[in-house]
Amino acid sequence: MITIRHSAGAYQVRFISVQNLAEHLPKDAFIVTDENVRAAWGARFPCPTLAVPPGEASKSVAMLERVCGWLAEEGATRSSTLVALGGGMVGDLAGFAAATYMRGIRYLQAPTSLLAQVDSSVGGKVAVDLPQGKNLVGAFYPPEEVAVCLETLTTLPERELKAGAAEVWKYGFIMDPTLLESLSNEPIKPDSPDLRAIVQRCVELKAEVVEEDEFETTGRRAILNFGHTVGHAIEAVTGYGPIKHGEAVAIGMVAEARIGELLGVTKPGTVADIQECMALQGLPTHCDALRDHEAIMAAMRKDKKKLSGDTLAFSFLISLGECKLVPNVQPSEVEAALKSL
Ligand SMILES: NC(=O)c1ccc[n+]([C@@H]2O[C@H](COP(=O)([O-])OP(=O)(O)OC[C@H]3O[C@@H](n4cnc5c(N)ncnc54)[C@H](O)[C@@H]3O)[C@@H](O)[C@H]2O)c1
Ligand SMILES: [Zn+2]
Repeated sequence: MITIRHSAGAYQVRFISVQNLAEHLPKDAFIVTDENVRAAWGARFPCPTLAVPPGEASKSVAMLERVCGWLAEEGATRSSTLVALGGGMVGDLAGFAAATYMRGIRYLQAPTSLLAQVDSSVGGKVAVDLPQGKNLVGAFYPPEEVAVCLETLTTLPERELKAGAAEVWKYGFIMDPTLLESLSNEPIKPDSPDLRAIVQRCVELKAEVVEEDEFETTGRRAILNFGHTVGHAIEAVTGYGPIKHGEAVAIGMVAEARIGELLGVTKPGTVADIQECMALQGLPTHCDALRDHEAIMAAMRKDKKKLSGDTLAFSFLISLGECKLVPNVQPSEVEAALKSL
């Protein structure tokens, strides 16, 4: 069990079985999930359930209206608990519905994808997307609890597991050489005996960072963006779909290590090391979209969070296992690095 403190209190991340979770849900619980997760696990939960279509398109204002409308029709009150049973899409959508329905009701994160277990269910960020950009309408709204049921990963498609694994490697690259060593010896597999220890370690690392920078104001939380500045640009250029977030992050980590090497921040040889790690995990290290330098640069400039003036801010590795934030990176330096890949 891991405790995460925040300005309004604290919540715990617990590892429990699906059966245990189903038996111990509050009486007045309402589940929001997606159709894939309902097909795999929904029958185990005896409470009112709304399954939205799977995929990022469901993280919309229209779907938020549907979730809140459903809660109202089902008679959910301010003492009800919303359960977000699913991957990060469901966690963000249901979490934001909980933050706003009746000015905020309790909710529980029950993450079922590796990405959601190691990343999105922890930290209290919830949101929906707008056509103008991802996560543009959201809140910091911590859950009552995060209930991690590792057995749900047994039905997660392998490509999704690998995509989530990219985030696990990211924690290793930015802040945990020991985790990195264990992943290098044994990349993540659905039946990895170490999976529980690995997920727990990632949650501890994320907890450490978000406790220090709950509202993303001190810059500490930005270290988690390693691989994401280029990764988000790849997702935007390819239209959010053909390349999964974790795959884009894997490619982005290689590209950002290259930028760091060229700037003299990152130890030479790091790019090759990351490429080797990603190959071990069966993750991509390059894609065609990355060759469209103009489009990638334009997407990075649009991603305002990364901009300070006309320059870009990056979380760069110093070497494997440690990183630092570097503001004021010139776009010309980024472009030169992309061209050298
Ligand atoms: N709030 C945060 O701090 C934060 C952090 C990182 C990412 N995110 C968000 O998370 C989302 C991505 O999360 P994701 O990768 O989990 O995507 P996702 O929720 O779309 O899930 C990926 C796919 O796996 C399926 N799935 C999930 N669990 C399953 C299971 N146990 N069995 C079978 N199928 C299963 C889903 O139906 C979906 O098709 C994005 O919207 C991203 O913005 C949020
Ligand atoms: Zn990510």
